[in-house]
Order: sequence, then C-alpha cells, then structure tokens
Amino acid sequence: MSVNTIEANRNRNLFGDHDEVWLFGYGSLIYLVDFPYLEAKPATIRGWSRRFWQGSHDHRGTPENPGRVVTLIEEPGAICGGLAFRVEVAVFEQLDEREKNGYLRVATEMTFDDGSTATGVTYLATADNEAYLGEASELEIAQHICRSTGPSGDNSDYLLDLAKALRELGQQDDHVFEIETHICKILDDPAPSAV
Ligand code: SIN
Repeated sequence: MSVNTIEANRNRNLFGDHDEVWLFGYGSLIYLVDFPYLEAKPATIRGWSRRFWQGSHDHRGTPENPGRVVTLIEEPGAICGGLAFRVEVAVFEQLDEREKNGYLRVATEMTFDDGSTATGVTYLATADNEAYLGEASELEIAQHICRSTGPSGDNSDYLLDLAKALRELGQQDDHVFEIETHICKILDDPAPSAV
C-alpha cells in the first residue's frame, strides 16, 4: 500500500449520511489537538494495543531517517485507552492530511467512562504500509526515538507528551511508560512518577 493514504481515505465511505462522528485518538491526537471538535471525553477500545511500530516520514522523522510513532496492533483481550472527539465529518479533510503517512481510517467501537458505547473511527497504520517499521524492544525503540527528528519536532517530544497525556487521563500503558523510562535515562531527564 502506498505510504500516502489521503486518496485511499477519501474513497472510504465510513460515515453513511452522518454529519458528526466519534474519532478515537490514541497517539498525538490526544495531546496535539489542532482540529475543531464538538466534545471530547476519555474512551477505550478493546482488542487493540498501542505500539511504537509505525515509521514517521513526515512529522517526527524523514523518509531517509524515519521516526517511530504509534499504531494499533490487534491483541485479543487488550484494552487501549485514549481520548474520543466528536467531530463534524468535514474535519476529516484536515485529519487525513495530518495522518497521511500510512494511516487508514477504520471503524471502531469505543467505550466511555460511564459504560456507554459508540461506533466511530480511528486512524490505523497496518503492517502492509510502506512506512511500517514493526516490532523492536522498548530499549531499541527508545534509542531510535532519541536519534530521530522531523518537521513537527523531536521524536522524543512525541513520546514524552503522549506519556504525560496518558498519565493525566489515568491510563496505564506499560509499553509507552517503559520507553519513556529509557528515554529519560538517555536524555538524562528526571523520570516522571508513575500513575
Ligand atoms: C492517533 O493519535 O490517534 C493516531 C496516531 C498519531 O497521529 O499519532
């Protein structure tokens, strides 16, 4: 699959005749909210884990030296916490541009803190996209992140901002927090306290 997903996303009709859709954010969409939304609230999705297995050519790295950003990996029984945004369908024009480096919109069921559920959309980078990097140990991922930078800034800021936002949401994510610990050691930053 081509690394630029704008066209593929435009051709997906996930919204039917809805004017508004719930968008589940689990990575930078949680802490870098540069799009208009009508409402935001914490949510979880079941059966998926957040992993720093996607390459970033356009935000936190370059095509020659891609950074590492998150995608969702199917894992039975896993729960991934994030932030859901109720957005107007027109907002996907802007979001598709931002998420064009391998991410496809897919339909997902999400659960809110009060137990209610909604079907919405999330951006997912599958293993067959050209920017996909795949599995590595948390230490290797931390080392990779610390040497990567791109037009949106240092790759380490992507991880540290995500870890901070997850902590603020009260979400435990062992993968993210372990990489954060390694990065703090590499950068000689004080380690943040656990959830
Ligand atoms: C997301 O945040 O939901 C998708 C991945 C990203 O943009 O970092």
